[in-house]
Amino acid sequence: MAKSVMFLTFLLSLTLFNTFQLAQSYSSIISRRYDRKTFNVLDYGAIGDGSFDDSKAFKDAWKKTCNFFGAQATMEIPQGYTFLLQPIEFHGPCVSKKINFSINGNLIAPASPDEWDCKNDHCHQWIEFAHIDGLYIDGHGTLDGQGTQWWSLNCTKYKKACLKRPRGVIISHSSNVHISNIMVKDSPNFQMSLEDSKWVTVKQLTITADGDSPNTDGIHIQRSQNVIVYNSNIRTGDDCVSIGDGSKFINISRISCGPGHGISIGSLGRHGTKETVEDVVVQDCTFRKTTNGVRIKTWQTKAVEIKNVMYNNIYGTSIKKPFVQLLCSKSFPCRDIFMNDINIRDENEEEEEEEEKKYHKSHHYHPYAECINVKGMSNGVMKPKLACLKSFA
Ligand SMILES: *[C@@H]1O[C@H](CO)[C@@H](O)[C@H](O)[C@H]1NC(C)=O
Ligand SMILES: *[C@@H]1O[C@H](CO)[C@@H](O)[C@H](O)[C@H]1NC(C)=O
Ligand SMILES: *[C@@H]1O[C@H](CO)[C@@H](O)[C@H](O)[C@H]1NC(C)=O
Repeated sequence: MAKSVMFLTFLLSLTLFNTFQLAQSYSSIISRRYDRKTFNVLDYGAIGDGSFDDSKAFKDAWKKTCNFFGAQATMEIPQGYTFLLQPIEFHGPCVSKKINFSINGNLIAPASPDEWDCKNDHCHQWIEFAHIDGLYIDGHGTLDGQGTQWWSLNCTKYKKACLKRPRGVIISHSSNVHISNIMVKDSPNFQMSLEDSKWVTVKQLTITADGDSPNTDGIHIQRSQNVIVYNSNIRTGDDCVSIGDGSKFINISRISCGPGHGISIGSLGRHGTKETVEDVVVQDCTFRKTTNGVRIKTWQTKAVEIKNVMYNNIYGTSIKKPFVQLLCSKSFPCRDIFMNDINIRDENEEEEEEEEKKYHKSHHYHPYAECINVKGMSNGVMKPKLACLKSFA
């Protein structure tokens, strides 16, 4: 009897001791979970003179940042330096709950296509952030893809290189991403691309590329959901914002676009496969010297159906006719197209009236509006008029 009581006491004290130890280490885990730490790239061997390859230093600093066991890890790219980076990937998942990628210095890509380190086919993009949940990219630095030489490649001669013009900044397979203030310029291809990601906020960016540069979309969005882009200036050689397949709940607002090709959905349906883009809002945007305003671009396949689109309060001037063009397929007409208060005028009003008079006399008359296989309604001011839309009035 006495023996078994003693044994129990011993067992009990052992358990108590264990619990005490566990509680102690648990509380230290909790407190470490509130830690914040900054990793400065200069401490990992970065030079920042614009010619030394800082890629390794950035990779090392990233490893520390991503693996930091705490609430927030900051990767600091200090002001006053220019860091040369080869194609680089900042890959998660990270241990830190929140990653603060603070770019106050400038980043540049190699200037000559020959200098790009394209081993293992890594040349499709310059800087990629992948598989990160809780990413903040902020600061007053410039990310310069130095694409001029890529743009001017003779594509007859360097076909392969032309097809591989790298994109600038890629966010992929990530969530809760906040990008603000940075400037992205002159990437050889798309300036920025948001892919397979969700809950992404982009604001106060400046994105520029030469107005004649090929395929330099400002921000491309693909297979992503809940993306908000606002208060940004975008001047490029292609679409300011383009929205590709698989995108849903996209809100683009207060974008100043131009030069560029406007804001576009598409091109969709290239391979005839099912592709969906849903719940897109483009509002309060300004277009200056753009080849288009808002567009939905599709390939001529049966895979694409356009329905339930509203154009509201769009006004301005145009030098290119037609001002409004809705060309839909016979097999899948566009349905539920609604236009309200559209007022797009010719730069030269008088010329416009003259031409209206000459309407039936000339074979070279270019219409102000074109509309094929469209079902929908219009309301309010409609200038130019779209014959295919039923008027509410
Ligand atoms: C990120 O780090 C910078 C520089 O250390 C700091 O100013 C900024 O507030 C941090 N951002 C967030 C979201 O914590
Ligand atoms: C581009 O390369 C092709 C093939 O080498 C050549 O025939 C052509 O003249 C080049 N074009 C220019 C503008 O240099
Ligand atoms: C789109 O985002 C802007 C800026 O955050 C906001 O003001 C606007 O209400 C949003 N629009 C919709 C339809 O959610």
